[in-house]
Amino acid sequence: MTEYKLDLMNDAIAETPFLIFGSPLIEQAEIDEVVACMESAWLGTGPRVAQFENDFAAYQSLQPSQVAAVNSCTAALHVSMVAAGLEPGAEVITTPMTFCASVNAIIHAGLTPVLADVDPATQNIDPAAIEAAITPRTRAILPVHFAGRPCEMEAIMAIAQKHGLMVIEDCAHAIETTYHGKKAGTFGDFGCFSFYATKNVVTGEGGMITGRDEAHIARAKVLALHGMSKDAWHRFGDQGYKHYQVVEAGFKYNMMDLQAAIGIHQLVRVEQNWQRREAIWNRYMQAFSDLPIGLPAAPAADTKHAYHLFTIMVDEARCGISRDAFLDAMNARRIGTGVHYLSVPEHPYYQRFGWAPEQWPNAMRIGRQTVSLPLSPKLADTDVDRVINAVRSTIG
Ligand SMILES: Cc1ncc(COP(=O)(O)O)c(C=O)c1O
Repeated sequence: MTEYKLDLMNDAIAETPFLIFGSPLIEQAEIDEVVACMESAWLGTGPRVAQFENDFAAYQSLQPSQVAAVNSCTAALHVSMVAAGLEPGAEVITTPMTFCASVNAIIHAGLTPVLADVDPATQNIDPAAIEAAITPRTRAILPVHFAGRPCEMEAIMAIAQKHGLMVIEDCAHAIETTYHGKKAGTFGDFGCFSFYATKNVVTGEGGMITGRDEAHIARAKVLALHGMSKDAWHRFGDQGYKHYQVVEAGFKYNMMDLQAAIGIHQLVRVEQNWQRREAIWNRYMQAFSDLPIGLPAAPAADTKHAYHLFTIMVDEARCGISRDAFLDAMNARRIGTGVHYLSVPEHPYYQRFGWAPEQWPNAMRIGRQTVSLPLSPKLADTDVDRVINAVRSTIG
């Protein structure tokens, strides 16, 4: 190619808009509801949070008394583990292939995280590794439905039952996920969901706790609002001032009506957005089938994958390019990508537990090779074409 042609190509790339990874699809209904919320002057926890809780409960086939809206999934995980009432220092088994929040929440609840490696194909926690990690101090399992693919919940619940363990499901990626006809988050004692800006249902920041036991949710609600016995919107409603009592040292984790205003309309389109992500997923699977990259495992029979992340494996030995060089090449083509995740023990903080990445070799390898491609329902077909062309011209 002549220098002149190369210059033209570089100019064209520089003018191409950057494709932001995980950009949410926000429509007019959300914008109008936020404006209406602001005009109502009720910004904090109020009627829109109550409606969002009711709608979310209906979507998950739960009772409204089995859900509690909070301001993040991290808060949901933390409060669930406090509400679980486990003794200080008790061990909680989780996966090394997760966001740091899963592990940090265990630590903040005064518990001890223990890691069990993932299955190399599904990237989800391996039930056999859970069983091998159980000690006399184990009290709970915290499985993460990674990328929206359900964990092996039958095997996990059997282990929990056998050893008398609680189960707290990290459903940050898994709002739509089902396993053998049952929604993710309804197998264990608690389900914890995220509405962070890149998630399948978005409120900017936000989370939801679901629980099998209504008493657990009642305690979680108290813990999530300073330990106060009644919520603020009951206190300041038009029914007259109501005194509250502080019954424990809680946290400031409540969701605002401003956030719920977005969530209510996002939830209406949850299945429509899922269908769009499924279509993009299928296009990627087809477009990359002849490349030397690793592709996600096909969804298992009798499950619904939430298609939250489309992750490919870039093994330098097979692809002729390192994972990090691949990330740079995609960035140069103005395509945002993600890494979900470096395995937890790669981070320096966790080395105080005596952890080294090599102890969980499947998670270590995945963490060093994985790349998440854009999968937002906001992507136009031409955006998807751009991603495909960029991947194919980087790994040719
Ligand atoms: C697996 C997992 N768990 C927990 C969280 C924490 O969610 P949030 O940002 O809502 O606190 C995330 C967020 O990225 C996540 O991916």
